[in-house]
Parts: sequence; structure tokens; C-alpha cells
Amino acid sequence: MLLGTQRINEAGHLEIGGCDTLELAAEYGTPLYVMDEADIRTRCRTLRAAYEARYPRSLMLFAAKSFINKAICRIMDEEGMGLDLSSGGEVYIALKADFPMERVYLHGNNKSLWELELAISSGVGRIVLDNEREMDMVQEVAARHGIVQDVLLRVTPGIKPETHSYIQTGQIDTKFGLGISTGCAKRGLAKAQQLPNLNIVGLHCHIGSNIMGLDSFEMAARMMIRFAAQLRDELGLTIAELDLGGGVGVRYRSDDQPPTPESYADAVITGLHDELAKYNLPYPLLLQEPGRSIVGEAGTTLYTIGTIKDVPNIRKYVIVDGGLSDNPRPALYEAVYEAIVANKPAAPTTQKVRLAGKHCECDNLIFDLPLPEVNPGDILAVQTTGAYNYSMSSNYNAFTRPAVVLVNEGKAELIAKRETLDDLLSHDVVPERLLKSCTAK
Ligand code: LLP
Repeated sequence: MLLGTQRINEAGHLEIGGCDTLELAAEYGTPLYVMDEADIRTRCRTLRAAYEARYPRSLMLFAAKSFINKAICRIMDEEGMGLDLSSGGEVYIALKADFPMERVYLHGNNKSLWELELAISSGVGRIVLDNEREMDMVQEVAARHGIVQDVLLRVTPGIKPETHSYIQTGQIDTKFGLGISTGCAKRGLAKAQQLPNLNIVGLHCHIGSNIMGLDSFEMAARMMIRFAAQLRDELGLTIAELDLGGGVGVRYRSDDQPPTPESYADAVITGLHDELAKYNLPYPLLLQEPGRSIVGEAGTTLYTIGTIKDVPNIRKYVIVDGGLSDNPRPALYEAVYEAIVANKPAAPTTQKVRLAGKHCECDNLIFDLPLPEVNPGDILAVQTTGAYNYSMSSNYNAFTRPAVVLVNEGKAELIAKRETLDDLLSHDVVPERLLKSCTAK
């Protein structure tokens, strides 16, 4: 499968954003994350257009946990997106990227005081409250700054979408938000109404991630409106904003069929229209906050093939120069990927191999990867690595994090430098007493 602007160029190499991937690998080294700028921008525009055509009062947020750095914040600002941020660290990056804070929604299920302080003092648009304890904390910080903070409450509608169990979050048995069916959500809102420096503008839910079917999204939309009607009737509360989270899946494999932005918008908005009419409620501002479906398919990781190990009569291992530290998703979520050989993408496949990384444990990237004959030095491109790869990368085994290049119309620009060996030591401290033994030698 070829994604976004990927194509096979005249030299017979994989090209992304008009850049030959072999030239990228030679210039920037491997492993290398390559991000397709046109694909990211197109996805923002298509999503916004799909919603605006069906429901003019909408705002699309980008879930920055999927991929965050300053360049991506600038792109999201240019594309008129807001940001869903999930920590003080993400707020700091957005601030340093000059992202307009009024379009920032701050999430988090255990926000620290310093995170609230940073967000509120920098004029964050909305805080999405997760629990009652946090209401008191926001009250305290907002009062200290002499402001009334706009807030949403995250609720759990009690929906379990079909996806890996580690990324289901809409069910009642979750650490996130307050349950509707348990009565906790209503009780929380009644409490928030009493706090003078909180202004409740709406509700939020996020039922899970990498979801391929539309039913659960539509059901969530309907349940949220029914709950909004209950809140109007029982607490006199107006839900002016409804944030239905993210969660749309992407193509990791050729046969994956994620919903299109249009079908996604159709499902959600049909549910909303029906229920709003039924309960005679005004149209709220509608928000969605996708991450994976904005940047997932736009990312490709280039690796160099090194050792090829044949276990006679069992299988062949093809080992690349990265792995678990740049992509923990196969190990964490049994995630499945596809890959192509960048220097001969059109060559017919002749074998199934196990693609492994070079970390000091099993570290399998792809269990059964169809490949043509390959040799050490070939460049392998693993697709759909734009979401939750760079943002979840680590220094395990003291690996340095790869660089990220943004490619567009034949130009490649660094948006994150490759870490250096000295970076690995930049936080390392040796107590004086241990240095003595070293100088004595
Ligand atoms: N909103 C909230 C409140 C979320 O918790 C998430 C994802 C999103 C939006 C964006 O969801 P998306 O559109 O990207 O599916 N590390 C895991 C994914 C964890 C998702 C966490 N929350 C993975 O690599 O699959």
C-alpha cells in the first residue's frame, strides 16, 4: 500500500513528499521518522470541511499526545485546529510554539497543581475536569488569578468500543472521568455549579482509540445528548459545548478500512440531530479531538537492514537498526504494521520474514512480513508510524531518539534533531564521592 504522497519515483525508489527516501536516509541517517506535511494538512482540511458542511458550529482539535513538537503546533495553528493537550509538558511546548491558548483544551486524569497553574496563568481556553478533587484545585488556582475558568466535565458514557482493551476508555470501569450511569457525573456537576470560579460550559467523552466501526461513536453522541437533557431538567444546566473525543482508526494494513471523515461526521451528527430534536435542546458547539487519524498515516520510519538470521526450517529474522525504543506499539498493543523496501518497492515478494529490532529483548516489529530478497544495507520503510511512535519513544538500551524530517514538495526540513550520545548524559549526575574512585585510577 502507498499512503499520502508516497509513490515510486523514476529511480524506482520510495518517494514521500517529493523526496527520495534513500536520499533522506543518506542525509539524515536511520532510523528516521519522515512526516508527510501535505498529508497532515489535507487531513485537517478534510475533517474540518466534513464537519463544517454538516454542522457549522464545530471546532476540530488535534490530540497532541499522538505527536507533539513545536513545528506540528505551528501547522495545527495554520490549519485552524485547536489542541487537546494532556499534560503540563504539552502545554509548555504549545506555549513555546506560540499556539493561541484560547484554542487549547487541557485534559488529564490526575492534573498536578503546577500543571493547572501553568495552564490557567497562560490563559488556557478550557480545562476538561476529570474528577471532583480537581474541581477544588481549579477553583483555588482560578480564584488566585482572579478569573472564572471555563471548564468541561469528562464523563464515561458506558460504551466499550471494539479495539485493543488497553485503549478502551468509554466503559464505566475506567480511571477516566465520572460515570453517567453511576450518578457520579451528575453529582460532580452539581458540586462544580457551587464553585464560583468555575464556569461549566460543557461535557466531554472519549470512548477509545483506533476504532474502525462507527456505531460506538454515534451511540456516544446520543448518550451525551440524553445526559445533557437530564442535566437541563435536573440541574438547570446548559451544555454549550460538547466534545466527543477522538478515536478514529487508521490504515496500518492494506485491508484496514477506517471510516472516512465524511462517514464519521455523518454518524456523529445524525445521532446529535435526532437527540437534540427529541429533547428540544439548542445546538452546542461540537468538538472532536482526533490524533491518530490526523498524523498516523503521514509518518513513515526508515531503517537500515543489518543482520539477517536464518533459523533453518523455522524462519528468517531481518533485523533493523531501531525497534522498541522508536516504536513500542507492537510490544504494548500487539500493533501490526506493513513495510516496504525503499530501494526496491516494486520488487515481487518472495518470502515471509520476522522483522525485529536491535534491542536487548525479543523486540519484534512485524511478525510476518512479506518481503523480496533483501540484503544488509537495504532501507526498510515501516508505514503508518506518525502517531504514538515519536511521542512514545524512549532511550531504552541507551538508544538515541531518531530525527524527524518534514517532507513536502521535494523539500525536507528537520523538525526534531537526532539525539546525540551526549544527550544521553545530559541529565546524568555523579556524586562527588564516586568521582574519587575514578580519579584515583
Ligand atoms: N482525546 C482523549 C481524551 C484521548 O485520551 C485520546 C487518546 C485522544 C483524544 C486521541 O485519540 P486518537 O484519535 O489518537 O485515537 N498510545 C496508544 C493510544 C493511546 C490513546 C490515548 N488517548 C497507541 O499507541 O495506540
